Amino acid sequence: MSCRVLETPICELFECRYPILQAGMGGVARARLAAAVSNAGALGCLGMVRESPEFIREQVHKVRSLTERPFGVNLIPSATDPVQFHAELDECIRLRVPVMSFFWSVATDAIKKAKDAGCIVIYQVGNAEDAVLAEEAGADVIVAQGFEAGGHVHGTVGSLVLIQDVCDAVSVPVVASGGFSSGRSLVAAIALGAQGIQVGTAFVATEESFAHLMHKQRIVDSQASDTLYTDAFAINWPPGSPVRVLRSEETVELESQPLGHLPDEAARQQVAEEGGRPIYLMSTDSPLQSMTGDLHRLAMYAGQVTGQIKQVASAASVVQRMVDEARQVLSNLRIQ
Ligand SMILES: Cc1cc2nc3c(=O)[nH]c(=O)nc-3n(C[C@H](O)[C@H](O)[C@H](O)COP(=O)(O)O)c2cc1C
Repeated sequence: MSCRVLETPICELFECRYPILQAGMGGVARARLAAAVSNAGALGCLGMVRESPEFIREQVHKVRSLTERPFGVNLIPSATDPVQFHAELDECIRLRVPVMSFFWSVATDAIKKAKDAGCIVIYQVGNAEDAVLAEEAGADVIVAQGFEAGGHVHGTVGSLVLIQDVCDAVSVPVVASGGFSSGRSLVAAIALGAQGIQVGTAFVATEESFAHLMHKQRIVDSQASDTLYTDAFAINWPPGSPVRVLRSEETVELESQPLGHLPDEAARQQVAEEGGRPIYLMSTDSPLQSMTGDLHRLAMYAGQVTGQIKQVASAASVVQRMVDEARQVLSNLRIQ
């Protein structure tokens, strides 16, 4: 059954069937996941924060070997050394990546550079003021990230309120992020004025994601109240960059003081490694399939939506389940 309500203008912009964006998640979202999502009719995205241009090139080539559909690359200007950031972006431009996705503080120079090169630019923000800044700098689509979100959380307002605020503040399309993994929530996002949803946590727990199996299983086993909002996983990012993670033995001591931690305060205690690279306790690294060590001590990012994720499934089935449920909800509401 076709359904006009789900055919929002961003589907045409991104040349995808469904208004669903997979969040470009550092470490987790590599070629297999991005390609599977794009092949399923949504928009896949590589999470390439702080990766080398060589690795980005390899991953982009791999996506292209797995799908002919458009895809994006996500970078985070303020969490990356400026020289490295521009080398990453230049590589994406050389590779003619169709969609660039950015997050955290608004980097107007990055938006302009990507736009001048012909990319479609998505900017994920956590408040309406940043949404306006990103729109003024030329972003094509604003992703409004609510407080429920997994991973780094830039704002303090929940999705229900934030999405309406951002929709009122800008005239470019808005995509809702943070707490969205069901068809019901997709319909709700559209009702709030968004043109689609960006999904992170639900795609971590897929067969194609590069997250360690333990991380995927913890998402399946956890409830909404099992997440903690804290800035203690601080090494690698600017001070005062909170994340939402699953509670673990490592976070017990943080319960009384989740916020106010500084990257330089954390002792460099190696707990894992990846290809010879040391991974420190309280860094922003999350457990990946390529890591060995005490991986349960690392940041296991997940949003409050974790309680709705019941199994590790294929990315295509996650997309299809959302679409089927959204159509059913619209049909129940007698909306087509
Ligand atoms: C494991 C994980 C890693 C993430 N890494 C990034 C990242 O590298 N860049 C980015 O823009 N957002 C990142 N995010 C945040 C997502 O873009 C998005 O805001 C969030 O996942 C949405 O909320 P949800 O988890 O409830 O779907 C990450 C989220 C998760 C769960």
